[in-house]
Amino acid sequence: MTTGTDLLELSPVMPVVVIDDVDDAVPTARALLAGGIRVIELTLRTPVALAAIERVATEVPGIVIGAGTVTSAGQAKQAADAGAKFLVTPGCTDTVLEAAFATGLPFLPGAGTVSEAMRLAERGLTALKFFPAEASGGVDYLKSVAGPLPSLRFCPTGGITAATAPAYLALPNVGCIGGSWLTPKKSLAAKDFATVESLAAEAAKLGA
Ligand code: 3PG
Repeated sequence: MTTGTDLLELSPVMPVVVIDDVDDAVPTARALLAGGIRVIELTLRTPVALAAIERVATEVPGIVIGAGTVTSAGQAKQAADAGAKFLVTPGCTDTVLEAAFATGLPFLPGAGTVSEAMRLAERGLTALKFFPAEASGGVDYLKSVAGPLPSLRFCPTGGITAATAPAYLALPNVGCIGGSWLTPKKSLAAKDFATVESLAAEAAKLGA
């Protein structure tokens, strides 16, 4: 896997994962993989996130582990050092963009408007995270930009559910979607990884 576009092809749903207890990282990744999901965006939103990425990178080689919620240059480097195979940002500043390029990792920069998407395309980035998808126009937005921006492919994320996922996945400019519903906070807190596996299995079927 070498480009952002390749990332969009790994699974129909890219789980957006928040790990509060570092010991949950490996069982969560294994449950997602057992359900048929081959990629994780593990968000840098908790103090244990980098350690969690490191554990998954080492112990679950079958899943492609990326760092999400990268909002600073320092985080981009830290995530790469921890073993992340790709980076995801919710939006994009020049500083974060340069730091992400410097890691040499593929990354999905966030864009919520046509101008943001055009700026990223100017830098050669044609696989983008469309965030926050539902709040920014959802399926209608993506349909509208397909004409003027035909080279761009998106991973819409933010407010998408198992019920709304198929409408996104049916769009030609959507490679995969992102969502946190595969790893509910409650299930992780209860160490209920069977539920994660079953939600992953349903999500994996969305691409069929
Ligand atoms: C993200 O960072 O991509 C979002 O928090 C995920 O959005 P969701 O929780 O609505 O799926």
